[in-house]
Amino acid sequence: MSRSQTDLNLYLAEKIHAALNALSQEKGQEPQTRSITLAPPKDEKLGDLGLACFPFAKGLGTSPVDLCRELAERIPVDEVIERINPTGPFLNIRLSREALARATIEGVLLDRAPFGPFEPNGKKIVIDYSSPNIAKPFHLGHLRSTVIGAALRRLYLHTGHEVHGINHLGDWGAQFGKIIVAWREWGDEAELATNTMRHLFDIYVRYGKESQERPELDEQARVAFQNLETGEDNEERRLWEKLRSISLKAFQGPYGRLGVEFDHVTGESFYEDKMDATIQAIEEKGVATLSEGALVVDLSDEGLPPCILRKSDGTTIYATRDLAALFYRRENYSFDRLLYVVGQEQKLHFRQLKLVLQKLGWPEADQVEHVDFGLILFWDEAEKRWKKGTTRGGNAIFLDEVLDEAVEGVRKIIAEKNPDLPDKEKIAEMVGVSAIVFNDLKNERIKDVKFDWDRMLSFEGETGPYVQYAGARLASILRKAGHGNLEEGLFESNIDYSTLADADKVLLVMQEFGPTLQRALDRNEPSMVTGLMIRLAKSIHSYLREHHVLSAEEPVRSARLALVAAARRLLATGLATLGVASPQEM
Ligand code: ARG
Repeated sequence: MSRSQTDLNLYLAEKIHAALNALSQEKGQEPQTRSITLAPPKDEKLGDLGLACFPFAKGLGTSPVDLCRELAERIPVDEVIERINPTGPFLNIRLSREALARATIEGVLLDRAPFGPFEPNGKKIVIDYSSPNIAKPFHLGHLRSTVIGAALRRLYLHTGHEVHGINHLGDWGAQFGKIIVAWREWGDEAELATNTMRHLFDIYVRYGKESQERPELDEQARVAFQNLETGEDNEERRLWEKLRSISLKAFQGPYGRLGVEFDHVTGESFYEDKMDATIQAIEEKGVATLSEGALVVDLSDEGLPPCILRKSDGTTIYATRDLAALFYRRENYSFDRLLYVVGQEQKLHFRQLKLVLQKLGWPEADQVEHVDFGLILFWDEAEKRWKKGTTRGGNAIFLDEVLDEAVEGVRKIIAEKNPDLPDKEKIAEMVGVSAIVFNDLKNERIKDVKFDWDRMLSFEGETGPYVQYAGARLASILRKAGHGNLEEGLFESNIDYSTLADADKVLLVMQEFGPTLQRALDRNEPSMVTGLMIRLAKSIHSYLREHHVLSAEEPVRSARLALVAAARRLLATGLATLGVASPQEM
């Protein structure tokens, strides 16, 4: 079977394309280039997938209704297409149930694209995500960036892209002057060793408060950062190195629990020795100007504040380092797309960067995208409304504590629902952490995320645990059938796919995997995949309510087991791209 016979959407699109092109040729017109998107018709009786003919009719000088009829005549029924049904301007197609079952189940179990990984496509994607600030609190925006960015990285990898996932750590900048002063004043070695993030946060907050009464602290901080920027091996440098490496170690804990990986950890400090060259290159292009002693790229024509390259005191800023990073990434990764997964409060910053690239005449300017997202909201019981910031006040969270809280919640549910579950601790960890990830990726990223513990940990509703439970249910059926290794050995029995006509709902949902990946990547929207996983879980649950697997007679039993194995595997694949684990039991 070829890729198109595994991905039936693609198969139909190719057939329709061929028919459209034959028509264009007869009319002496250019071949069709518009892509073909199929969607299930409103009434499922009309068919499984349909094409709206409007966009194609105009160019062919015909009406959508006529075009639809003509296409129907030209596309022959075959082993995949059971019926073609032109309904007004819609071309509806019903798939052969046997072909649907065979294509889907074999496609999944033999790991063919789109279910398994795609062939490399040569496209290079750079994704900048997570990027917390060292020695400053990991805030909720960083949690979202981490989860969304890691999901995008996996989705691009699955679909054959060369991906560079980058943690652009905030490990440089004027705030390090403050952190150095705070450490000198209130730093405690023992606290730093045992309670790294919290301690650094505490002294940073204390700095903020005390510097209001003691303005000399700010002067000390300024000097400290200047000393750091000299690049010399001085006290400031050694302290910075120490705090950086301890923080980086502390981040590894939550990253590991979330299953988040990076291909490069190149933070802002990585560009320290590259900024002069960057500034020089920008100056050479003639787009830098002096403004009140600072070197800037003027953006007043675009109605935006200038992008600062170097402040009047000679120091560089966040934007300077981002520009240096752009030069570096262009040179080293020659990217087709560069995505910044960063909160919407930095919209202006990324607009400025893009404009600077345009002024520099980079064709890549159009390939640079700010993938932004909404806030995380908590319920405020006193005010009876959803609010930005955590229950503990402020917008600082300690990621490990949030993950722990989720795991504790799941522990309680397991104790109540399934106290004899083996490996309870491991499963509570998998389910608790995944619940947070799932909750984050459930809705369009631009929407705010509500941190509703009861809701997101619940085994019912559109939640991580609910979807994971569907997978565990399938795994348990396979175990009971003796397929300890899930699909192992399934193909030894000759599967009679014609017996799976009653599984068409599940199979049709599975067939949406390919088009869903496509849509998710077009918009950098992992929630599309989350949505499909919810629908797959629902259709599995309802299939299992109506059909017995283990007690069915042969050859139905083997065919249903193959379906169960394929559904289980696709669910695990889809969830894995999101960063959600698939426990065998729960
Ligand atoms: N460290 C920044 C922050 O916490 C985010 C960095 C995003 N990436 C970038 N290349 N600017 O706000």
